[in-house]
Amino acid sequence: MSTAAALTPINPPIPTHVAIIMDGNGRWAGQRNLPRTEGHRKGSENSLHILEAAGKIGVRYLTLYAFSVENWHRPADEVDALMRLLETYLDRYYDKLVEKKIRLRTIGDTAALPAHAREPLEKAIRDTAHFTGTSLVLALNYGSRNEVLRALRTCANDIASGQLNPDKLDWNAFASYLDTRDIPDPDLVIRTSGETRMSNFLLLQSAYAEWYFTPTLWPDFDENCFIEAVRVFSTRERRFGRTAEQLSPNRPKKPPQKIAEIS
Ligand code: IPE
Ligand code: IPE
Ligand code: MG
Repeated sequence: MSTAAALTPINPPIPTHVAIIMDGNGRWAGQRNLPRTEGHRKGSENSLHILEAAGKIGVRYLTLYAFSVENWHRPADEVDALMRLLETYLDRYYDKLVEKKIRLRTIGDTAALPAHAREPLEKAIRDTAHFTGTSLVLALNYGSRNEVLRALRTCANDIASGQLNPDKLDWNAFASYLDTRDIPDPDLVIRTSGETRMSNFLLLQSAYAEWYFTPTLWPDFDENCFIEAVRVFSTRERRFGRTAEQLSPNRPKKPPQKIAEIS
């Protein structure tokens, strides 16, 4: 593969957590007169490459939006094909997770997934739970509103049973009820395919994330595209409500860091 972008120097910081809305599989297939499911297959294949690229440059958490709460409303045969693909690719992921010591986690209401997909998913989560390197977080049957409602219900029950003092409920306490409870907020959220909306993805957790939108369709979003997104992230100034001057105006620029070549 081309190494041009892979050798582009990237200024630190590398994002700790990159979350991706993998969009455009259907259009990718449509452009080739292929069924939408072929786009999903190609997209699933691509996610394996991006997982590898993320690990190589030191991204600690990679969250992939694979199936939204709203995606159940797609035609039944497409939903069915997506669930079958999940099962197939979990098998492919499993070997990579073990080989690279990557921990698999999920966010979303995975209890609603069909057993043929849920069971290998639970096995992969169990078998990789002790890995401390990169985490792959699959967002499955995920939607921010659904996540917040589930968190609120548990939180309200804890208040009702006296386990939680509502006066002590600050953001950190509430965040511990979210699916992302032990996952840091995303630093960079990427959306492919040219759409510039959030589609119910990590709405609270991305409060201070940097967003990167690209017209590239997900199956075409290769390692070089990923590196470019990280490079753009590294040029952004995150101010978290402060002024630019407050962020040490005379700070010396760190020299660009050459990241590992992706092959
Ligand atoms: C993203 O690709 C994959 C899922 C939502 C499961 P799409 O299937 O949304 O592709 P487009 O947006 O129709 O091109
Ligand atoms: C978002 O893509 C969900 C996933 C990538 C899994 P969609 O294609 O479902 O989003 P909308 O409907 O265009 O907003
Ligand atoms: Mg879409």
